[in-house]
Amino acid sequence: FQPRPLLGKKVIVTAGGTKEAIDPVRFIGNRSSGKMGLAMAKVARDLGADVTLITTVDTDLGGLNVVKVQTATELMAQIQSAFPKSDVLVMAAAVADFKPINVADQKIKKNDDEDIFTIKLTKNPDILKTVASTKTNQFVVGFAAETQHLLENAEKKLANKNADVILANNVAQNGAGFNVDTNRITLLQKNQQPETWPLMSKVDVARKFWDFYLHR
Ligand code: C5P
Repeated sequence: FQPRPLLGKKVIVTAGGTKEAIDPVRFIGNRSSGKMGLAMAKVARDLGADVTLITTVDTDLGGLNVVKVQTATELMAQIQSAFPKSDVLVMAAAVADFKPINVADQKIKKNDDEDIFTIKLTKNPDILKTVASTKTNQFVVGFAAETQHLLENAEKKLANKNADVILANNVAQNGAGFNVDTNRITLLQKNQQPETWPLMSKVDVARKFWDFYLHR
């Protein structure tokens, strides 16, 4: 029995939803609470890992290296600087697929003559895909939050994003997904049958994931 089986492992965990600026006071965001990523980071720390938590949400977790970011661009830069020396990347952050093309320097004022306001968006890079394509020995974990066709979409992500594992969850189901303390996960790996876990707390999901990682 080893109480700290992740000792010596460098782990990057991302958490929370990105905030893509529109102007100095507004952003486009999503409903991610960061709870799943924070649980992944906490359990990895408790198991002895050297954890870098790159997060858009505040945390009082101690004993790990916390890097606060807002946008997908910042998130990607931080991951890219830590990734080459890491052993595991857990990509739990909900990255905005698009960001405003232009960020206004000053607060945008409403115009009395116009009832419709248009914001043009441009695609963010797929961070997981970009970073995983530079993999040497790192173990890369992605999430797939879906509202339909869970397995089909998650299988595609496993292949397209070059991830070792995808943790898929149906965010339309009760007790799973955004802003709740529980999750129902299906774990997918290449050339293996998907494994569906019962509904459990996000901390228990994290414990089960790290246990899987250690015994795979
Ligand atoms: O494609 P989709 O957003 O469903 O994929 C989810 C997974 O990909 C998550 O692990 C998420 O952190 C990651 N992702 C990313 N960059 C994006 C979009 C998603 O790294 N632009």
